Amino acid sequence: MHRTHTNGELRASNVGTTVTLSGWVQRSRDLGGLTFVDLRDRYGITQLVFNMDSDAELCGKARKLGREFVIKATGTVAERSNKNPNMPTGDIEIIVTKLEVLNASKVPPFTIEDDTDGGEELRMQYRYLDLRRNPVKENLLLRHRIAMEVRKYLDSIEFAEIETPYLIKSTPEGARDFVVPSRMNPGEFYALPQSPQTFKQILMVSGYDRYYQIVRCFRDEDLRADRQPEFTQIDCEMAFVEQEDILNTFEGMVRHLFREIKGVEFDVFPRMFFDDAMEKYGSDKPDIRFGMEFVNMDAVAKGKGFGVFDGSEVVLGIVAPGAADYTRKQLDALTDWVKRPQIGAKGLVYCRCNEDGTFKSSVDKFFSPEDLSAWASHAGAQPGDLMLVLSGDLHTTRKQLCELRLHMGTELGLRKKGEYQPLWVIDFPLLEWDEESGRFHAMHHPFTSPKPEQMHLLNEDPGAVKANAYDMVINGVEIGGGSIRIHDKQVQKRMFEVLGFSDEEAQAQFGFLMNAFEYGAPPHGGIALGFDRLCAMFGGQESIRDFIAFPKNNSGRDVMIDSPSPIANEQMDELFIKSTAAAKE
Ligand code: AMO
Repeated sequence: MHRTHTNGELRASNVGTTVTLSGWVQRSRDLGGLTFVDLRDRYGITQLVFNMDSDAELCGKARKLGREFVIKATGTVAERSNKNPNMPTGDIEIIVTKLEVLNASKVPPFTIEDDTDGGEELRMQYRYLDLRRNPVKENLLLRHRIAMEVRKYLDSIEFAEIETPYLIKSTPEGARDFVVPSRMNPGEFYALPQSPQTFKQILMVSGYDRYYQIVRCFRDEDLRADRQPEFTQIDCEMAFVEQEDILNTFEGMVRHLFREIKGVEFDVFPRMFFDDAMEKYGSDKPDIRFGMEFVNMDAVAKGKGFGVFDGSEVVLGIVAPGAADYTRKQLDALTDWVKRPQIGAKGLVYCRCNEDGTFKSSVDKFFSPEDLSAWASHAGAQPGDLMLVLSGDLHTTRKQLCELRLHMGTELGLRKKGEYQPLWVIDFPLLEWDEESGRFHAMHHPFTSPKPEQMHLLNEDPGAVKANAYDMVINGVEIGGGSIRIHDKQVQKRMFEVLGFSDEEAQAQFGFLMNAFEYGAPPHGGIALGFDRLCAMFGGQESIRDFIAFPKNNSGRDVMIDSPSPIANEQMDELFIKSTAAAKE
């Protein structure tokens, strides 16, 4: 037998029992007559004691144990004289009588501690060691618990988990596809799903009116802290529903998760129109843990001879509460911050609203104290506040001010960890104009339904059409998105036309879906939540990487297995792909 208990299990009530424990050596301390070894497994750490006086040979063996050796120890549970209240097993220790080394270990390249000395790349390379560390382990176990709660909740309301294939053809979700060559079909390729979108819609046609799947999705896109090339969705679809049903169902699910995982209760989630989100926060995923809403300053800032404002499409400002005491140095740093290429502003105008009722701005030359006072009343700034103003074209200025608002929110401590503000953003536009290709793209995906009452606009003014599409946003993170779908073949056909597909292209790519729509497609809609993002949110982190057991690095590489990697020429030939050698000929 390898163990009678785990290393997180024994308590004072077990004193006197003979036990066998197995695990990894976390550390050992040699105090002359006594050697202490901390034995670790997934469940915790238990202290082992070897006594030189009672068994010198055994103690000698213990002294030779290195970090991360796998051992098995048998002994008696004893009460510690020196208790450790910070450890669940801190009241006891094991007086060891028998020790077996199950496997030796090389010295690990970084310490297996909560605060490790290992750099990111090294830890990725030795992911199996990193996964032994508590913080990563906690994240993965949290992920498991969330998945269990999702399944419990959805199962309780009749959702069936149904798997859909990974070797499919393109599902357009806005990224590039990962493709897989087919040996049996020379020159042809599968695409890995960017989402199971078309399959879940077909399941609705088939009558499985509540589907879900915790499913891997693949997208070849630029990576960020909250994006991985393969990631997991809680993908859901329902038939015979309207938008309201979907919002209520999934708000219910997320409320259930917060209650079970965090012990946090929520009321109804607030809702915000996409247009309002853009106007007030310059973003379709606003962090509403704090205010600092945008103020259009055109009326008070233009026409006073300040060329930068006068020549701009829009002048937008925010009021940073209580920040009038920002020093010149801090304001210069803010200006440098907005001028960085990632933000790209040309400059930043500020105006301190001093406690004594005076104003000090970076544009005093152009604006009198009365003008600045008008700014303050227009923007609702109080004595002690700082006004920050950007100008330019509407789209860019909104984006830049959105970044500045979030930055100020962080600097002023308004984005509090452990505080959660969920939000539905609704009524997204159906289409967005893409300058580069000179055509419309689907803002969500091409299967999203226009608002029925705006269907006629699809011909007259496609850009103005709103969709029954919604995003779930928590603390400024897009946790999920979905829509009510088109279930009428003619409407779907029209949608493909608007998106610039020829009839043949639409038929070749999505004929199967339009054909299915001819056999009794019910009204349906759904949503997919980013499962990795949800886990990171519950774990209080921005990066999803440590909530995934084996993630990719920023260049999309798995550095542990060293993938992607070249394949042999023979394999290329077998797949009818030109090998590098052949290509050169
Ligand atoms: P969407 O493309 O909005 O919708 O994706 C849904 C959610 O998936 C998460 N997500 C990601 N997470 C990590 N890494 C990525 N690369 C990544 N891309 C997306 C986000 C996002 O909100 N089929 C539709 C859903 C539907 O209409 O039902 C879809 O995939 O949290």
